[in-house]
Amino acid sequence: MGANIIDGNAIAREVRAELRTRTESLEKCGIKPGLAVIIVGDDPASTIYVRNKVKACSEVGIHSEVHNFPKDAEQDEVQRCIRELNESPLIHGILVQLPLPQHFEANRVMTSIAVEKDVDGFHLCNVGALVTGNTVFSPCTPYGVMIMLNKNHIPIEGKHAVMVGRSNIVGKPMALMLLAKGATVTICSSKTRDLATHTKSADILVVATGIPRMISVGMVKPGATVVDVGINRLPDGKLVGDVDFESVKEKAGFITPVPGGVGPMTITMLLCNTIEAAERAHDVTK
Ligand code: GUN
Repeated sequence: MGANIIDGNAIAREVRAELRTRTESLEKCGIKPGLAVIIVGDDPASTIYVRNKVKACSEVGIHSEVHNFPKDAEQDEVQRCIRELNESPLIHGILVQLPLPQHFEANRVMTSIAVEKDVDGFHLCNVGALVTGNTVFSPCTPYGVMIMLNKNHIPIEGKHAVMVGRSNIVGKPMALMLLAKGATVTICSSKTRDLATHTKSADILVVATGIPRMISVGMVKPGATVVDVGINRLPDGKLVGDVDFESVKEKAGFITPVPGGVGPMTITMLLCNTIEAAERAHDVTK
């Protein structure tokens, strides 16, 4: 029997409908949540991500503004802009699109964002808060994965979760969130020796390596939940994940497709964090 396909588009739609009702409640109190996005340079992928974020904001009733800087901008100039946005009553969330140009120190830029406006959860204080289980804002992609597991009633406590990928944006926070829910967590990377030995013992396997279809059917335990965070464009233009979906879906219990899996959830959770920030700023309970 084939796996249950976890439909990220459907879950994102459902969550966004809930978010819409929260922005409507805020509107009744004269509050419009606001998100500022800072983009440095003209990386084509970043430009598309930012455009999608702006569109999603307008769909759920969030004010958004984009601050563009040329790729040779000075870090000080960007940090000055962040400081102004920190003070702005119209802005509740600030996001600096990554990657930044080589001459930027990303951690310094991130830590110039006010912690209570750091809707990406990348400020070092928010990273520390996540480590100690006092989450302020959860990083959007792993947060989206947790919602997908929850909506599908996939048990986490006591299960073995294997994270393949160790990035600051996905792998590390994902592992911490699974750990916080009581999973026994193994963190691997594409370089891990005998990777299949680890992945084959996973009840929940999350993959974020950026290597197209690296997880083959032989690396997965029958009935496992397989979450594919990868999104890779092949030379023929086809979009694929880090998991060989066609074969793995015959063995897994649950699986996320690419596209239409984790992808739509990332922006949804950014919207959620922005609304949360506005509610907190104005002491509104949801
Ligand atoms: N670049 C790739 N993913 C992300 C993300 O989630 N947030 C930001 N700020 N930049 C990114």
